[in-house]
Amino acid sequence: MKKLSFLFFLLASCYALAQSSFPHLEKSDHTTQLIVTGKPFLILGGELHNSSTSGTAYMHPIWEQMKKKNLNTVIAPVYWELLEPEEGQFDFTLVDSMLAGARKQNLHLVILWFASWKNGYSMYVPSWIKNNSDKYPRAKDENGKSLQQLSTFGEATANADARAFKALMNHIQEVDGKQQTIIMAQIENEVGLFYTPRDYSEAANKAHNNSVPAALMQYLISHKGKLQPELDSVWKANGYKTSGTWEEVFGKSIVDKKNWETLSYLTEELFTVYHYAKYIGNVAAAGKEAYPIPMYVNAWLKQPLTPIPGKYPAGGPTPHTLDIWRAAAPSLDLIEPDIYVPDATYTIEQYHREGNAIFVPEIRPGIRSADEVFWILGQHDAIGVSPFGIDDSKPEDDPITKTYAALTQVKDLILQHQGDGTMKGILVDTIKRSQEFDLAGYHIKAQLNSGSFAELAGFSVGEKKVGIAGGILINTGKDEFIAIGKDYTLTFNPIQDDGKSIDVEYFDEGTFANGKWVTMRRLNGDEGTGGGDYGFGFKQGNYGMIRFQPSPTDNYSIVRFKMYRYW
Ligand code: DGJ
Repeated sequence: MKKLSFLFFLLASCYALAQSSFPHLEKSDHTTQLIVTGKPFLILGGELHNSSTSGTAYMHPIWEQMKKKNLNTVIAPVYWELLEPEEGQFDFTLVDSMLAGARKQNLHLVILWFASWKNGYSMYVPSWIKNNSDKYPRAKDENGKSLQQLSTFGEATANADARAFKALMNHIQEVDGKQQTIIMAQIENEVGLFYTPRDYSEAANKAHNNSVPAALMQYLISHKGKLQPELDSVWKANGYKTSGTWEEVFGKSIVDKKNWETLSYLTEELFTVYHYAKYIGNVAAAGKEAYPIPMYVNAWLKQPLTPIPGKYPAGGPTPHTLDIWRAAAPSLDLIEPDIYVPDATYTIEQYHREGNAIFVPEIRPGIRSADEVFWILGQHDAIGVSPFGIDDSKPEDDPITKTYAALTQVKDLILQHQGDGTMKGILVDTIKRSQEFDLAGYHIKAQLNSGSFAELAGFSVGEKKVGIAGGILINTGKDEFIAIGKDYTLTFNPIQDDGKSIDVEYFDEGTFANGKWVTMRRLNGDEGTGGGDYGFGFKQGNYGMIRFQPSPTDNYSIVRFKMYRYW
């Protein structure tokens, strides 16, 4: 008997050890990091187009291109219709070929489970689902008309999706559990209903007229005082009821088509979110039973032109519904935004809520996001970022190639400084030309460069006009900093005036080799510290200043510098 219990203990310990060595999220007080093969990992990603991994020949040359773009992770779909073309028969050929392609280039993968819903619609489900609306019912609009989208109330659909995903994760665990090429999974894609804020099928109507499920009520009660403000305010407005129908507990929704930020149809939205979250949470839980790596959902955003649930997919992971996702789908680790709005900052701030770390699975590609990426990583301790349609452009034409070239060098430094208050993201553009913040005893101002010194001095030819600058500033020691970026200037004002004057002690441009700083150039004079014939001119006030000079290659630089005092 003793021997048996020892064996059991040994097996349980081995299982626990194996689980903790799978890719997982590690949460501390101020940050959440993704751990891969035992070490923190920063995703420098790119998401492929929707159909790219449906054929191995198309992908053949792409893997190498991804490496040349300096990505470390490719985000790629797995399609239910191709994984389980016949019910119960699974074909893992495409998954295996993705693994082989990625591994050859030393890349990781985040997989996208395109299953019951992709951008709201149900077009990636196998034919045997598509052609059987009796068994796999569709959601209905207010007039009882079937929508293309599968209903979250279809029990057979929910089970079939969960079974297929579990088979996929089981396969991945078997073929990749050791190597850990696949590091996270996204469940479904931008879910939610169009045209209607909720499903009006018979089952949905019944659930809507019933009491709010006890488990959700319990969650609200036990998290009272810590709920997201939007949810708390409607619950409060209705007297913090501890039971009742959805409308009794959360009130009758308001509808305001003028102000896009109003949460119109909120009660319907919460109801719809709850049922998507339950369904997707079950899929994720089934997958985690086989292989417990981090799993998340992504959102089509509420935005000024599509401000109402149903105009944007109703039931998706909008930030104000975070608590409902947590209550109904504890197997999901994160809810994340797909960013196609002109400016990423508002969205990131909306999603970076207590315990919800930022990962950006999709952001519009191009010049702007190539700079925004620095701000997202530096300011919000993000797990990673990923421009969409990464297989569209050549490495030399895609601005993300240069961003990732710089970030590859500093990613370990960034990871070391996450959550300790020593790092800031910088983003300035022609609308918001400067940004101010306090760091390490300094009041710091970042400003978009308006031209090079040479241009200001009137002898440059063909200088580029700078439209945006992104960067990261890290405090690495007393008065010592590392900054990454280009096209911006930083001024440092001591917060406490000790009567001494301040200036730059040294300003070096360099790189990291095997984690160690290597100086390439000492920058001084015209190149950025304010001396020289056409330097900073007649300085007024007590500040030190460094400036990224335009480089002929337009690469981002990494600089290390220190402030000192004189008297
Ligand atoms: C958002 C979706 O999630 C992606 O799959 C893709 O369709 C993009 N939109 C761009 O079209």
